[in-house]
Amino acid sequence: MPTALVTGATAGIGAEFTRHLAGDGCDLVLVARDEERLARTAAALRTDHGVAVEVLVADLATDDGIAAVERRVAQGVDLVVNNAGFGQRGDFLTSDVAEELAMLKVHCEAVLRITRAALGPMLERGSGGVINVASVAAFFSRGTYSASKGWVVTFSDSVRQQINGSGVHVMALCPGWVRTEFHQRSGMDTAGIPGFLWLDATRLVTGALRDLRRGVAVSVPGLPYRILIGLGRVLPRRATTRLAARAGSRHAH
Ligand SMILES: NC(=O)c1ccc[n+]([C@@H]2O[C@H](COP(=O)([O-])OP(=O)(O)OC[C@H]3O[C@@H](n4cnc5c(N)ncnc54)[C@H](OP(=O)(O)O)[C@@H]3O)[C@@H](O)[C@H]2O)c1
Repeated sequence: MPTALVTGATAGIGAEFTRHLAGDGCDLVLVARDEERLARTAAALRTDHGVAVEVLVADLATDDGIAAVERRVAQGVDLVVNNAGFGQRGDFLTSDVAEELAMLKVHCEAVLRITRAALGPMLERGSGGVINVASVAAFFSRGTYSASKGWVVTFSDSVRQQINGSGVHVMALCPGWVRTEFHQRSGMDTAGIPGFLWLDATRLVTGALRDLRRGVAVSVPGLPYRILIGLGRVLPRRATTRLAARAGSRHAH
């Protein structure tokens, strides 16, 4: 049985990945902070899909938490989904600096270290995959959130190039709006987001796993977002920042 480790596995996009992978017969390692919720999620996956499920309680904003996940992936897994993440409260000048730094730790340092630790055994075996969940925000200027997700895209693509031909694939996944706990957790007002910009989580995960198999470098679900990112590449930065502010909530997405 292949084994997949998913961070942020108890809610939203991560939970959708776990259900999809379990449905495909994949054993799982679930990572998040809330131990009780992890246990409940694992029990449901075992009952519904008959797969083996481990839980790993880890706060990826801490060195110990990241190290625990590094140790687990170094033992060998077939797929890593670096998905854990959160949105920002407030703008740069009013936000809590500790929260900004925690965001860099979860979105960047944890992704770097877990990817590195996972690749060792994968490259030795000549097979495996890493999906690093970024965001459409990676292509626009909207605070530390979008800056950190921009890092995820560039980092993932650069590692992908370096291991090209190894049988191991690293892909950045850039979702737009998905209805999860993300917006409520970070106090975002999503009332003005038009319906056509909301992505279906099930289709998003199906498409992401298909793109991983096809060796796509940066997976962007949904035509509206591919158009938005295309515009971002040709329009001046000033214009795309204004466009992103219109398509976004009160805070970066
Ligand atoms: N939803 C969207 O519209 C959207 C759009 C673009 C990109 N994304 C990205 O997609 C990813 C998943 O977001 P989501 O919308 O599914 O969020 P979500 O519903 O809020 O779920 C977040 C998950 O991450 C875990 N988590 C949060 N902080 C953690 C930490 N410090 N250490 C370990 N686990 C942590 C949470 O569990 P615990 O609280 O128990 O730790 C939970 O399982 C994020 O990287 C986000 O930036 C989301």
